[in-house]
Amino acid sequence: MDFLSLCADRYSVRSFADTPIPDEVLNQILEAGRLAPTAMNLQPQRVFVIRSEEALEKMRTVKKCYGANTVLMVCGDTEAACNRPKVDHCMAEMDCTIATTQMMLAAKALGVGSCWICAFDVPAMHKVFDLPENLTPYILLALGYPSETAEPSPRHFERYPLEETVTYL
Ligand SMILES: Cc1cc2nc3c(=O)[nH]c(=O)nc-3n(C[C@H](O)[C@H](O)[C@H](O)COP(=O)(O)O)c2cc1C
Repeated sequence: MDFLSLCADRYSVRSFADTPIPDEVLNQILEAGRLAPTAMNLQPQRVFVIRSEEALEKMRTVKKCYGANTVLMVCGDTEAACNRPKVDHCMAEMDCTIATTQMMLAAKALGVGSCWICAFDVPAMHKVFDLPENLTPYILLALGYPSETAEPSPRHFERYPLEETVTYL
């Protein structure tokens, strides 16, 4: 599949089958995140793989994640990230966003569905997973094989035309 077709076909999966993701497939997804560009190459992304029953149970107390049997909790190390005064803000969230995007698209290329989740209680996540102060959980990437009933939401088909979001100067 060419890259634009992959981008068009990927959709937020909100119904997952129980089938586990094989280790070699998950490793390729994680590798795509490792290869991501980051500000000053400081690589502040810290990816927690939530897939043991114990970790999934903890996750469920904060966020249900549509029953995915694997969830990547992508945290930024705000001390390790580019924090230069010249830039005037910490790059950790941007770096995590790029790494997660690469993992999301790699998952699609490998036949694994995903849903990007940001609507969760950050302090609660911090507490439940006993995260150190310098780690901020920015994104949950729910991963798994789509169930037989999984389908794109209507929003998937709603994209503004380029004229709405692109301006040539
Ligand atoms: C930054 C960001 C935050 C999102 N947060 C959530 C979320 O908390 N829960 C959810 O179900 N989907 C979430 N999504 C998925 C979007 O709703 C979805 O990408 C959008 O509606 C387009 O649909 P599509 O991914 O199927 O093309 C998020 C996506 C992004 C990029």
